[in-house]
This record gives sequence, structure tokens and C-alpha cells, in this order.
Amino acid sequence: MGGVAQRQTFMSAPAARGPIVTIDGPAAVGKTTVGRMLAESLGFLCLDSGLFYRAVALATVRAGGDPDSADDALAAAQSLRLRFAPDPSGQFAARAFDGNRDISEALVSPEVDRTVSLVSRIPAVRAAMLEPQREALREGGVVALGRDIGTVVCPEADLKVYLDASPEMRAQRRWKERRENGGQMDIAAIRENLMARDRIDSQRSIAPLRAAPDALVISTDSCTPGEVVRAIRSAIAARGLIREC
Ligand code: CDP
Repeated sequence: MGGVAQRQTFMSAPAARGPIVTIDGPAAVGKTTVGRMLAESLGFLCLDSGLFYRAVALATVRAGGDPDSADDALAAAQSLRLRFAPDPSGQFAARAFDGNRDISEALVSPEVDRTVSLVSRIPAVRAAMLEPQREALREGGVVALGRDIGTVVCPEADLKVYLDASPEMRAQRRWKERRENGGQMDIAAIRENLMARDRIDSQRSIAPLRAAPDALVISTDSCTPGEVVRAIRSAIAARGLIREC
């Protein structure tokens, strides 16, 4: 990731913790790219909550379970010993482990893309994932990414952002990202997967994908990630959470 941090000072946060910025939005809208750049520029951690649900989907499938079965998905969620560690290549991205097994690449496989929204609509799975996410946010100084972070996991966040973009643009971004990582997927299949996930994510009864009423909504079709990061930083500074100097 390029361009680190203008110098800044944190101003007093409302609670006895560092600031929390949430970024929610549909699949492949750029949350991960923007979230990592923003976190790096602020010296914050980046918590990608999608990885929790992806890990549950992977564990369910690997155990031979049905991702649509609450019992199978919950058993998989409970079996996980998920942890994140810095990437030894020195890149900003973290690597994900289940116990000692590195599952980073498997978490973004087409099979997980296909099954993750099924396990994430199961209330018991969401309940099991809530506390680990809140624990990861406890000290603040975090940019947290997902679908329900500003609405359910952390409605008290200091700034809530909702990113949006057209399905065409999102499919193009995801296709490019997967290709750069050696994946070979057809763009039409990617678009179909994004649309299917969006449908399940926004129609589920618990914690559906939606913008928090007080979210800053940014449409990113014609913005570079750098422009989105600058817009979010301005909003953070306007709330007095950082002072740009
Ligand atoms: O990177 P992308 O936006 O495609 O997906 P992700 O953020 O890794 O999330 C994968 C899936 O996990 C989503 O489609 C949701 O079904 C689920 N998810 C969720 O339900 N709640 C969250 N806070 C994060 C992800």
C-alpha cells in the first residue's frame, strides 16, 4: 500500500477508547482496498469481518457439512480457532489461520464465494461471531469492514461509512482482483455471484445489509480508492477525531 500518513494527533474520543470507523457495503465495492489504505494512513488496525464468515463457510464445507444447515454451520463456527497474523511478505494484509493451518487463499475461493452468504444468514452463526468482533473493536483505533458493523456490531462507532457502486463496476473490480491473484473466473459468473450474495445479504431477517441512518454514503463508481480514502479522512477530521497537519 502506498502513501503513508500525514502526521496527525488524535483528539479526545467520546469513549475511553480509540476511534472506530465502520465501512459497510455490498460485495466487491472496494471495502477491503479502501479500508486497508485508510487504516494504514491512520495507523489503525483493519478488521475485515467478512473473513469471519468466510472461515465459517470454509470450515463447514471442509467438514462435509451443508452450508444451509444451522447445525452444520454452527458446529463449524465452534470448531474454528481463527487468528490473524501479519503477512511475512511485509504487505499490509493479514494472513488468516485456523489453528496452525494457513487458510488465507482458501477464504477467497469460488466455493467460499458460493457458500458464505448461506452460513451468514443463520442467526446462531451471527450470534457466535458477534462477541469476537466486538472484542476486536474494544480498544478502538480500528477501521472495521462488513455488512452490519455500523448497524448491529458497533452502532456507537465514531464514523459510519456506507460504500456503494453499480453491479457492473463491482464485477469488474472483483474480476481484476481475482485475476491479479492468479484466479481464472469469468466476469459474468462473478457478477452473478455478487448479485446472488447481495440478494441474500440484504433480504435476510437478521442484520441485513443496509446503511445506518447516520452513515456517510459514498458512491464509488467514478472514484479511485485514494479519493474515497480522502473523503473519509475529511469526515473523520470534521468530527474532530483527528487533526490533519
Ligand atoms: O469482499 P466481499 O465484499 O465480496 O465479501 P466479504 O466482505 O468477504 O463478505 C463475504 C460475505 O460474508 C458477505 O457476502 C456476507 O454474506 C457475509 N458477511 C456478513 O454477513 N456480515 C458481515 N459483517 C461481513 C460479511
